[in-house]
Amino acid sequence: MHLKNDLLLRAAKGETIERTPVWLMRQAGRILPEYRKVRESVSGFIELAQTPELAAEVTIQPVDLLGVDAAIIFSDILVIPEAMGLPYEMVEKRGPLFPNTVRSEADLKKLHVSDGSELRYVTDAITITKKALNGRVPLIGFAGAPWTIFSYMVEGHGSKTFSAAREMLYTQPAFSHQLLQMITDSTINYLKAQIEAGAQLVQIFDSWAGILGPKQYAEFSLPYIAQICDAITSVPKTVFAKGAFFAREEMGKLNCETIGLDWNMGIAESRKLIGSGKTLQGNLDPAALYGSEEQVREATIEMMEQFRGTRHIANLGHGVYPDINPEMVKVFIQTVKEFN
Ligand code: CP3
Repeated sequence: MHLKNDLLLRAAKGETIERTPVWLMRQAGRILPEYRKVRESVSGFIELAQTPELAAEVTIQPVDLLGVDAAIIFSDILVIPEAMGLPYEMVEKRGPLFPNTVRSEADLKKLHVSDGSELRYVTDAITITKKALNGRVPLIGFAGAPWTIFSYMVEGHGSKTFSAAREMLYTQPAFSHQLLQMITDSTINYLKAQIEAGAQLVQIFDSWAGILGPKQYAEFSLPYIAQICDAITSVPKTVFAKGAFFAREEMGKLNCETIGLDWNMGIAESRKLIGSGKTLQGNLDPAALYGSEEQVREATIEMMEQFRGTRHIANLGHGVYPDINPEMVKVFIQTVKEFN
């Protein structure tokens, strides 16, 4: 199908573009009243994510309502543990919870490498979304990085320190590598299934990269991300490792087209460390959108000036916060589109 707006894909590949494409991490979600309405029609997040027609509907909402240059399939990174045999719940106002965790060889034996077939509801949602989008904008697929998924599977829930997960790296390194490899193999199968169904770019979210030190990151996260990047060859790949400022130089060597920056990472410094061979994505502080219209416009222009003339996809430095006024998201998007 012919893409009417392929700015995202061309920017990722470093081709010449008329203007910088823009989308937001977590654009499909609670910032939109239209999302909350669909969400209230079902029992909760998980039912919504597992109902392909509804997942497709909320995936397309930000394209219609906000004017972003890409859609990202509505799902969650935690569908991978579930596909491997470790189900999760989404607890209202608290976040994800795994009733069982993985901390021993015996726990590991109950899991399997997913071939992607358990996640048919995601690939069906992609198929439906692609048809409904009708080439308006590209569709992004995604998965969590193995280290971030490992953190949730070991810890069982979100945490500021993920100390149980980090403990495992020191006390059971061989076990840790075994679990990380199973997650990696499952993720490769899953991303290939997403691409087969129609995803045109994939992003890997290493949301908890920043809680590891450089040495641990080099041993327990980057090699698995590298395996994924090497295995996916048919679409551009984006790696977003939140807080991994210490690994930027190494990330510049990954077999991917785009590196996502969080808002703590200086733009000029990141470019120097990563080199000119990659597109950079980001990186406005999500909290900047709490400002007035004028402040949002100024902050956006300031960011755009720093990326000027380089390979860039505009985004926030992390997911949009649920209590941000959608009007301010629109100001951000419009300012990027008018920047020249
Ligand atoms: O970007 C998008 O619009 C696509 C959808 C998407 C969701 N989660 C939907 C979601 C994506 C890309 C994710 C990724 C995700 N999920 C990450 C990586 C990105 C990041 O933010 O660092 C992580 C760490 C998770 C795990 C997760 N899922 C948490 C910690 C929570 C609870 C906290 C929160 O933000 O609500 C979720 C739930 C979740 N995932 C919601 C949505 C829309 C909210 C659920 C609801 O509707 O109540």
